[in-house]
Amino acid sequence: MDTASLEGKTALKEKILALKNRLKAVILTHNYQIPEIQELADFCGDSLELAKISKGLKEKVIVFCGVKFMAETAKILSPRKRVFLPVLGAGCPLADTITPLELIELKNKYPDAWVVSYVNTSAEIKSLSDVCCTSSNAVSVVKNVPADRIIFIPDKNLGAWVKKNVPEKEITTHSGFCYVHEQFSLNDLKRARELYPPAKIMVHPECRSELQDAADFVVSTSGMLKAAKKSSADIFIIGTEKDMIYRLEKENPEKKFYSLGNTRACIDMKKTTLDELYKALLKERYEITIDKSIIDKADRALKEMIKYV
Ligand code: 13P
Ligand code: SF4
Repeated sequence: MDTASLEGKTALKEKILALKNRLKAVILTHNYQIPEIQELADFCGDSLELAKISKGLKEKVIVFCGVKFMAETAKILSPRKRVFLPVLGAGCPLADTITPLELIELKNKYPDAWVVSYVNTSAEIKSLSDVCCTSSNAVSVVKNVPADRIIFIPDKNLGAWVKKNVPEKEITTHSGFCYVHEQFSLNDLKRARELYPPAKIMVHPECRSELQDAADFVVSTSGMLKAAKKSSADIFIIGTEKDMIYRLEKENPEKKFYSLGNTRACIDMKKTTLDELYKALLKERYEITIDKSIIDKADRALKEMIKYV
């Protein structure tokens, strides 16, 4: 980077922090945000950590650098706080793979089932669910809810992971998937094993079922951080969004991290740039608003979710 652009970025970061202080805001960022945004975070984490943190904050303004369902989750858990998503169009294509009508049809088909929704869903889907979960506590939620029949939506790969780990329950899954994780292949994994035999392979549970079976760790994004710290290995192959590697390297400077096959980016996570964050703070945009009737119902499912680790 040339000196002029470095100076420009430093000045922009200072302006962002000044606006943040003026608004008495807290910046929450997901582990997939670009490094410059991660650097500005008060807290950076996975979906479950960020949901719990947002609920516990005393500050009344949250700027959520992530995607819409994450900012909505913070708003539902703290409806009196102002929650901003810096880029209006930062969504999650996986969350769009199920409509309320499809879920209602599933509920009619299995009236005795509990609906466990991945947190990567719209507020309306959450309002129709019994409990939400994230990738870090999906197995524990499904194991512990008081029902033997489960409708698990919308991610088929996380659903397969839950089925393998909770064989005692009857679990109906949906066909949704995340295009970022779906692109990692078993061939990528086999090649990585050949190239780096001593390396440990970690994949997110949104990766295909056959990759889950062949990996050393199947964990959420923050689960990867914990596993890398705890493991005695010093080389890791990572099957998730590319900027997770920035966080892993930062926290484990003595270890090496490589992407499983080609690096894969979540386009929506990359939409939040320094410039967009600055404009969002300056113009106080885009504030999340959700109908009270939806908040009241979705809140039950989310409060239930944050009880589980
Ligand atoms: P985590 O909860 O593991 O951070 O995952 C969120 C996500 O969107 C994965 O694609
Ligand atoms: Fe959604 Fe996939 Fe992006 Fe995660 S990585 S936010 S699941 S599109």
